[in-house]
Amino acid sequence: MPPEPPPAAPALLEVEDLHTYIGQHHILQGVSLRARRDAVTVILGRNGAGKTTTMRTIVGLLRPRAGAIRFEGRPIHGLPPYEIVRLGIGFVPEGQGIFATLTVDENLRVAMLDENPESRDRLPRIFALFPALERFRQARAGTLSGGQKQMLSIARAFVNPNRLLLIDEPSKGLAPIIVEHLVAALQEMKSQVTVLLVEQNFAMASALGDDFYLLDDGRTVHHGRMVDLVHDHALKKRYLGV
Ligand SMILES: Nc1ncnc2c1ncn2[C@@H]1O[C@H](COP(=O)(O)OP(=O)(O)OP(=O)(O)O)[C@@H](O)[C@H]1O
Ligand SMILES: [Mg+2]
Repeated sequence: MPPEPPPAAPALLEVEDLHTYIGQHHILQGVSLRARRDAVTVILGRNGAGKTTTMRTIVGLLRPRAGAIRFEGRPIHGLPPYEIVRLGIGFVPEGQGIFATLTVDENLRVAMLDENPESRDRLPRIFALFPALERFRQARAGTLSGGQKQMLSIARAFVNPNRLLLIDEPSKGLAPIIVEHLVAALQEMKSQVTVLLVEQNFAMASALGDDFYLLDDGRTVHHGRMVDLVHDHALKKRYLGV
C-alpha cells in the first residue's frame, strides 16, 4: 500500500458554517472558509452578499449566532474585538477608518499596540511599501488623496506584527492607476503576512488571490483556486456579473 499522504496543514483561519444576525435579519446563513498561511484568500460576491458582515463577524464586531471561527486552531468566536486584534489579526475596514484630523504619523502611532515594541521598527518597511506616506508624514490624513488614505488604512494594520490581515474592498472608489500601485504594495506584503481580502475588482482579486470563496445571499456557494476561477466564465457571470 502506498504511504498515507501527510495531513494537510491546518489553515491559519477557519470559519465554519457561520450564522450572523443583524437585528432581526438573518444575514449570514452558512459561511465557511479557510485562509491558508502565507496565501491571499479572496472573498467574492455581489453587493449585499455578506462579505463585510463575514469580516465584521471574524473580528468580533458582530457576534455569530452559530458556527465556529478558529485562528491557529483556537476558537475565537465570542471574544471581544480587542482580544481578537491582540491575537495578531488586523482589520482594514471598508471606507478606511482613519482619523482625518490626525497626521499620518499620529494615525500610525495610535494604531500601534503598546506591547509590541517591534512596531516602531516596522515603520521603515511601511514607508518602503508606501513612499507617499513618508512624504506626507506630517500632513493631516483628511488632506490625503483617496489612494493615500487607503494606503494609510492598510499601513495602520501592517504597523503591528499581525499574522493575518483582513482587508475590505481596498480598491473601492480608486482610479485604475492607483489600484495598480495598491496591487504592487499588496504583492510585496504577501510574503510577510497572510491576507483575507474582499475585492469586487476582479482584475485586482485575480492578480493577488491564491484561493477564492464565493458568497451569495449570506452563504458560501463556491470555492477553489483563483487560477481556475479566472477561466470559469460561467461561474463568474452567474455570481459576479463579469
Ligand atoms: N446594519 C444593518 N442593518 C440591516 N441590514 C444590514 C446592515 N448591515 C448590512 N445589512 C444587510 O446585510 C446584507 C449583507 O451586507 P454586507 O455589507 O455584508 O454585504 P457586502 O457583501 O459587503 O456588500 P457590498 O459589496 O455592497 O459591500 C445586505 O443585505 C445588507 O443590506
Ligand atoms: Mg461590503
